[in-house]
Amino acid sequence: MKAIVCTSYGSPEVLQIREIRKPVPAADEIVIRVHATTVTSGDWRIRSLEMPRGFGLMARMMFGIVKPRQPILGSEVAGKVESVGESVTAFQIGDRVFAFDGAKMGCHAEFKSIKATGCVVSLPDEIDFETAAALPFGGTTALHFLRKTAVSEGENVLVIGASGSVGSAIVQIANHLGAKVTGVCSSANVGFVRSLGAAHVIDYSKQDVLSLGSQFDVVMETVGSLNLSQTLKLVRDGGRAAIIAGGLSDMILAMFKGKSRRIRVVVGTAEERVDDLREILNLTISQAFHPVIDSIYPFEEIPKAHLRVQQRRKVGNVVVSVG
Ligand SMILES: NC(=O)c1ccc[n+]([C@@H]2O[C@H](COP(=O)([O-])OP(=O)(O)OC[C@H]3O[C@@H](n4cnc5c(N)ncnc54)[C@H](OP(=O)(O)O)[C@@H]3O)[C@@H](O)[C@H]2O)c1
Repeated sequence: MKAIVCTSYGSPEVLQIREIRKPVPAADEIVIRVHATTVTSGDWRIRSLEMPRGFGLMARMMFGIVKPRQPILGSEVAGKVESVGESVTAFQIGDRVFAFDGAKMGCHAEFKSIKATGCVVSLPDEIDFETAAALPFGGTTALHFLRKTAVSEGENVLVIGASGSVGSAIVQIANHLGAKVTGVCSSANVGFVRSLGAAHVIDYSKQDVLSLGSQFDVVMETVGSLNLSQTLKLVRDGGRAAIIAGGLSDMILAMFKGKSRRIRVVVGTAEERVDDLREILNLTISQAFHPVIDSIYPFEEIPKAHLRVQQRRKVGNVVVSVG
């Protein structure tokens, strides 16, 4: 099968198309024929090793010292079950599915193996593969941080980076939960963020976000443009903050900062839960959520898709059509 192999850390040229062995499912696995995948900000970060401040060394230890240990990047797929392991009963050959494998990756290929009990869910006919591939990364990250910050009806929620993959999902789902969302983005995306359900939109090129003051019940920082101290200036006493793209020092300081004002700070990595995959699918079917698609690239052009992602200007998700 064809796969895009990341031959070392570096610019998108390190990504090369190669012929490699097609996976054979272990007893508890299925193999998916990939129809669509995505290039996420996670793929760009691992390929380039451009990590939030302070995470460089840790990233090499996690992903590989001199080059990625898993050379096939990509964490999301949608496609059809090609083969099933002998003990698998939940899926059959030909089933439409979508899956998230952020820890193992390996989705930038024509076939992807995954445990049948992992983050993989049947996909109804009404949702096309490109849409399904764009559901997990932003959608489940949004669900995780909305759950951890316990956003509820009527609360004022500020989303910094409202036009990104994670931000656009938070805006839509927080709005669905009945929160009053204020989105922060550039001039070009003001109308778009409003269309996602934000009650107010702040154009950061015209207004300093910090001038908003500590009026929000919850602040979701998805960009890393504000550090922890700045983010906390926007939260009311007793509120919550989620630092989704923060540096190492923010992670450490999160244990102490905000305590005097009873602000709960949520940091860390979103969990990978199959229940979240089911929930994001249900929200999509009920039209409470729709993953925003920035652009769709053919499989061979994954290096170009990486370029688009690393510019950090994409609106929603960059999808890759396979085959
Ligand atoms: N903690 C976790 O578990 C977790 C999970 C997933 C992702 N992440 C991290 O979360 C971050 C966001 O990921 P993503 O995929 O959503 O990013 P993304 O889609 O690449 O974000 C791009 C968007 O960011 C906006 N942006 C850039 N600078 C901004 C600023 N100063 N203020 C407001 N918006 C700005 C851009 O809009 P404009 O062009 O309008 O500026 C663009 O639409 C990444 O750093 C990623 O590594 C963390």
